[in-house]
Amino acid sequence: MERVRGAGAVLAVLVVLGAPPAAGEELSGVFQFMGKCECHFINGTERVRFMERLIYNREQFAHFDSDVGVFLGDTPFGEIQAKHWNSDQNFLDYTRSQVDTVCPRNYEGVTPFSVERRDPL
Ligand SMILES: *[C@@H]1O[C@H](CO)[C@@H](O)[C@H](O)[C@H]1NC(C)=O
Repeated sequence: MERVRGAGAVLAVLVVLGAPPAAGEELSGVFQFMGKCECHFINGTERVRFMERLIYNREQFAHFDSDVGVFLGDTPFGEIQAKHWNSDQNFLDYTRSQVDTVCPRNYEGVTPFSVERRDPL
């Protein structure tokens, strides 16, 4: 079985600052929210798993796994968020669709690199 790990990983980083800092200005606060999307091509595009990790200040608080089909909380805060996202049918449908939209679209582009990174398992 062909197994490609980390293939097609898309990293989106959003850093929100209170205000654009002027040169030399002290920041009163910075927080970082990060969403990482991973496509695991277990057998080419025949068997694909989509994983979205939601990270707040370096801690993963929730994730979506296309094999499960819903958001799962990884912390008490994440459980509240996951419940909220799972109650939004449109958002859930959109997230579920990404395994069929985002992942295949990225496969061709990453294949020359991902084949070099094939996991021997
Ligand atoms: C992988 O996909 C191919 C079709 O592309 C299929 O013939 C083969 O049986 C699949 N392998 C496994 C282990 O599912």
